[in-house]
Amino acid sequence: MSVGKTLGLIFLAAFILMQLIPVERNNPKSDPALEIEAPTAVKEIFRRSCYDCHSNETKWPWYSAIAPAKWFVARDVRVGRQWLNFSEWESYDEKKREKLKAMIFKAVGLAMPLGTYVKMHKEAQLSQKDRDTIRQWTGIRPEEIMNNPKRFLY
Ligand code: HEC
Repeated sequence: MSVGKTLGLIFLAAFILMQLIPVERNNPKSDPALEIEAPTAVKEIFRRSCYDCHSNETKWPWYSAIAPAKWFVARDVRVGRQWLNFSEWESYDEKKREKLKAMIFKAVGLAMPLGTYVKMHKEAQLSQKDRDTIRQWTGIRPEEIMNNPKRFLY
């Protein structure tokens, strides 16, 4: 057998074996009453741009069924939900919500939604208007960032 063929078979075998590694792709059940209550315009943006990783209503894309992509997608959803889960927002206490709002204010500037995600979901890209809408909802005034930078550290 040629070297090329052997390598090809090794890669094929590795690819098939990779598929056998189990990855959890679930949408846990949660009480609908715990979903975030926010004005429709705000919720619409969260639903469009954030819910796939920050809610229990993830729409798992086809490539999330195939390794190695599924490892990365599942990790983003798992970690994303740990940080912030809009399906459970109303169960967070006031302190946690305030902290998260400050983080959201910051995150919509550049970090979120994740760049890798936006490549596959163009509709998730936030417009400046979306950012303004979300930031207004947080109730944080831009001056506060200058006057109280500590609030924006985690
Ligand atoms: C593709 C999945 C994905 C999407 C979509 C996404 N996030 Fe995240 N988010 C993550 C992950 C993963 C983390 C954890 C930090 C990390 O690993 O980079 C995170 C962390 C956060 C954090 C806390 C930590 C930080 O970096 O500020 C906030 C706040 C946040 N996301 C808000 C949002 C908002 C708001 C949206 C929608 C506009 C959004 N995210 C969309 C995956 C996502």
